[in-house]
Amino acid sequence: MQQEFVLILDFGGQYNQLIARRVRECNVYCEVKPYNKVTIEEIEKLSPKGIIFTGGPQSVYGEDAPSVDKKIFEMGIPVLGICYGSQLMAYSLGGEVATCKVSEYGKTETNYDLSNKLLNGVENMPEKAITWMSHTDYISKLPNGFKAIATTENCPVAAMANDEKKLYAVQFHPEVNHTEYGVNIIESFLKNICGCKGDWTMQNYAQIAIKEIREKVGDGKVLLALSGGVDSSVLAALLSKAVGNQLTCIFVDHGFMRKNEGDEVEEAFKDWDINFVRVDAKDRFMDKLRGVSDPETKRKTIGEEFIRVFEEEAKKIGKVDFLAQGTIYPDVIESGSGDAAVIKSHHNVGGLPDYVDFKEIIEPLRMLFKDETRKLGQELGLSPTLVWRQPFPGPGLAIRIIGEITDEKLEILQDADWIFREEIAKAGLDRDIHQYFAVLTSMRSVGVMGDFRTYDYTLALRGVTTTDFMTADFARIPYEVLETCSARIVNEVKNINRVVYDITTKPPATIEWE
Ligand code: XMP
Repeated sequence: MQQEFVLILDFGGQYNQLIARRVRECNVYCEVKPYNKVTIEEIEKLSPKGIIFTGGPQSVYGEDAPSVDKKIFEMGIPVLGICYGSQLMAYSLGGEVATCKVSEYGKTETNYDLSNKLLNGVENMPEKAITWMSHTDYISKLPNGFKAIATTENCPVAAMANDEKKLYAVQFHPEVNHTEYGVNIIESFLKNICGCKGDWTMQNYAQIAIKEIREKVGDGKVLLALSGGVDSSVLAALLSKAVGNQLTCIFVDHGFMRKNEGDEVEEAFKDWDINFVRVDAKDRFMDKLRGVSDPETKRKTIGEEFIRVFEEEAKKIGKVDFLAQGTIYPDVIESGSGDAAVIKSHHNVGGLPDYVDFKEIIEPLRMLFKDETRKLGQELGLSPTLVWRQPFPGPGLAIRIIGEITDEKLEILQDADWIFREEIAKAGLDRDIHQYFAVLTSMRSVGVMGDFRTYDYTLALRGVTTTDFMTADFARIPYEVLETCSARIVNEVKNINRVVYDITTKPPATIEWE
């Protein structure tokens, strides 16, 4: 099946992934490629239904400013330029770009002229709406054949159009939520200008991916390190559907999973056609971590031990043909390469097991975003506990116990974290808060229980909302929910007499405490 395809040319802007996600949300398949890594001939071969230029940090007049071959505008393929992309379109086609007298940043009132195909195609598009701006240059003279279709107080060309040639440009960022009707403008470009129908669904993708995996793997053996996280779990499900028990999943349980989680992962795969190997390695990890309190040493120690355990188990299986990795699209885009396989290191250690003998790495999820990966998991019938699992760091609770880890502290944290998660789910907040967990601090303080004075640990609760985990806000959990959590935790979990809620954003704090 020929999939509709849109090409996103990346000029280095900060929202490029977001543009791709928005396009995919319109059920149109797209790929992001660095602007200088695709030639006109390659674009011809790819035959995209449309091209989007992203923003970028440069000025078109700057030294080494990214540029495009002008032939791109003569191919009959619709183009939408965003921010730098809009300036580049204007400049390349004979218009002019100048420095703004007043730079525009943030929410900006924008006036639209709706008599063009792009904006006309947006249902209920108003003549005035808020857009998100971030620019110091602006289009000061339109190229021939274009007209301005949006203006702001300080920007005479907040958007421009050449309907005949299907060339459009917006100075604002339609991909950002703050731009009202932004996603609709992108959708109008895709559907009304490029003629996309929107055939990209996870049902289609599953069929295509299963067929491709079968062709590639043949009767070969596949090995996967399953962490129980969304990516590796969905990958296990996909591979199982494709090649059944030619797949072996090794699940190294380091003992720092949340309460019952190791069993949940095992249970979720019980009825799947795969070889599932669970390695209970808690004692080995605890031995290695004795006396270790520095966060980075914890990470490194856990990472190294993980590889060692994985290697030992893999050796028992003997030669495998393919090592499967749960790399997803943001990893690919972030590597900047747009093509070469990036080695996704488990638990933050650079590199793959040295002694596992395999021919090739396969990464069947490498073109999917996280939300698509979850949808694929749902499509494949994977357990909702795995599909909707919140992100969990490779080293697990080991970096949520401040200082040295002991069996006792691990149990305290598992119990407290369990209560927190249970209450959040009861309050119906589990899909709104992107990551939430308990941290066992190393601080003890005085309390009173009954007639007795206590001197016990302080537990911190953390909940964040975020789009990309690079920045985050603390979740506004209702006081009543926090109150229940606090009461239950001090009553039901031994050795905790104080509960605090972390109200810092990232930056300056990080999401995790270690
Ligand atoms: P921070 O704490 O850096 O976390 O704001 C950002 C995201 O990364 C996760 N995280 C990790 N994931 N190994 C992982 O696999 C790690 O060592 C690690 N440290 C942080 C964190 O849970 C959050 O989602």
